[in-house]
Amino acid sequence: MEAHDARGAHAASPHAVAEKAEARWAWIVGAVIAFLLVMMAYMSLHWISMPATRTETIDPTTLHLAGEFVERNLGTAREADGKLTLRVVANQYSFTPQCILVPADTPVLIRATSADVVHGFSVTGTNVNTMLVPGYVSSFEARFHKTGDFLMPCHEYCGTGHAAMWAHVKVVPQAEFDQALSRAAAGRASCVER
Ligand code: CUA
Repeated sequence: MEAHDARGAHAASPHAVAEKAEARWAWIVGAVIAFLLVMMAYMSLHWISMPATRTETIDPTTLHLAGEFVERNLGTAREADGKLTLRVVANQYSFTPQCILVPADTPVLIRATSADVVHGFSVTGTNVNTMLVPGYVSSFEARFHKTGDFLMPCHEYCGTGHAAMWAHVKVVPQAEFDQALSRAAAGRASCVER
């Protein structure tokens, strides 16, 4: 007779213990899988039933002819509600305006698009970073904390002139910006030399 058999009839057999543990883990794994499936089904239905948010389309071939991205409307403008909107167009191989003027510590709604291929839009030293895709408007709010000159390079390869494609962002104190805006043609401020 083996030693462990002598421990008495009360101890469950190792086989029964293992079986119980296996069954418990099988239930736990089953529950995790069921939870994931329910979540997938819920998210699928949610995405199907909701319209895609923040997707704005625009015809890239007529940007220069009509609409908010015509050249005289580019730059930083004060809207009727008092808020600031900066509009920028990217094309091979420059941004318009080439020098962007914004006030410090003020929310600015940035609206930008591309007239030809995909370009990158990022302002060094800030968290402003997006892609400009032809046919779509990239729209987001930014706030510039530090005054100074910041480089705004295109960071998506867009063709042979990609490496030479950048603009400047000049962040100035609020009062200085207001002054520039009051003097700006058509109420669109920029720091492009005229
Ligand atoms: Cu535009 Cu790279």
